[in-house]
Amino acid sequence: MEFNYEGKESKDSILKRAHAHRRIEVDPGNSLLIKGDNFDVLSSMLESGYSEKIDLIYIDPPFNTKQSYTVGESRVSTISRGPKSHIAYSDHMSTQDYLEFMRERFVILRELLSKQGSIYVHIDNKMGHYLKIILDEVFGIKNFKNDITRIKSNPKNFTRKAFGNQKDMILFYSKDFNKNIFNNVSSHLDEADVARMFKKIDKDGRRYNTVPVHAPGETANGSTGGLWRDMMPPEGRHWRTDPVELEKLDKKGLIEWSKNGVPRIKKYADEHTGKKLQDIWNYIDPAYPLYPTEKNLEMLKMIILQSSNKNSTVLDCFAGSGSTLFAASTLGRTWIGIDQSDYSIKVIKNRFKGVQYDYLEYKLH
Ligand SMILES: C[S@@+](CC[C@H](N)C(=O)[O-])C[C@H]1O[C@@H](n2cnc3c(N)ncnc32)[C@H](O)[C@@H]1O
Repeated sequence: MEFNYEGKESKDSILKRAHAHRRIEVDPGNSLLIKGDNFDVLSSMLESGYSEKIDLIYIDPPFNTKQSYTVGESRVSTISRGPKSHIAYSDHMSTQDYLEFMRERFVILRELLSKQGSIYVHIDNKMGHYLKIILDEVFGIKNFKNDITRIKSNPKNFTRKAFGNQKDMILFYSKDFNKNIFNNVSSHLDEADVARMFKKIDKDGRRYNTVPVHAPGETANGSTGGLWRDMMPPEGRHWRTDPVELEKLDKKGLIEWSKNGVPRIKKYADEHTGKKLQDIWNYIDPAYPLYPTEKNLEMLKMIILQSSNKNSTVLDCFAGSGSTLFAASTLGRTWIGIDQSDYSIKVIKNRFKGVQYDYLEYKLH
């Protein structure tokens, strides 16, 4: 399946243009901030030993909003606040040009991504569905992982004839569906979760719930399909664990027997390892950002913990205020940030005062 639009360049031609870029002299072990257009910088990275070296890419590109994002004396805004405001970045392109702009960058980003790598593309609901099709094409629909709904703000009281918009989307792909780093980060249960999920309280005051001793599916030849206490598992089901283990659980008081003699396994709230994260995230952006459209730092930390390791390199080529880079640095990852805006570079440099990293201004020739 392919998404066609006017002005679409072939992948080979994009890569040929990319490979015509020069090398840049950098130490791949160091974190790096580069000022320049990201197509050129990413292309030069391909020529400079970064091919298949990046474990995690998070990008939050312009959303093709047809707006200019300005910075006033003390606050950031999406509209000019007068003569003292100046533009942090502009976001004006035709839809076709925008899609091609993104696609040519995706093509190179895929080359930079390691075999265990992942890319997260943060986008809004107007452009996101077009980009999904382009990402399916570039990264392969088989490598699509999640379309994450991100709650970005508190409810708003629009006057428009539509529902309020509280969400945007993050499209998550791996280079190879079975090989991506995924550290199973989980979220803690809060008090309300514990009260809702663990309604029973034992004699020591500990909250618990119970689950059946059997689970769906029959075991053909194993012990989980055999006798336990003269009982067979119900039809179409198997014992959740080996009968020997069930016996041990019972001895420890971890099996609860109903009045009718039905056993269930006890699960304690204080032994719960946390909730698996789902594809709806609640991470509201800062109310007083350093930079227009600055993203939530805790969300970026979670993505980095989930999809990179300590020795990984994390890339954000639409760096803005450097939130991704800052999160990566806090978590001890090597990072690479690219942005073409003077204001972005200024904000990032301020954020990284006292931190060791290399800086270069990219010139085409
Ligand atoms: C939405 S902002 C990123 C905000 C960032 N995620 C944060 O939390 O602060 C998008 C950024 O992409 C940068 N940008 C847009 N086009 C670019 C290009 N061709 N090369 C490099 N940077 C670009 C803009 O200057 C802007 O800083």
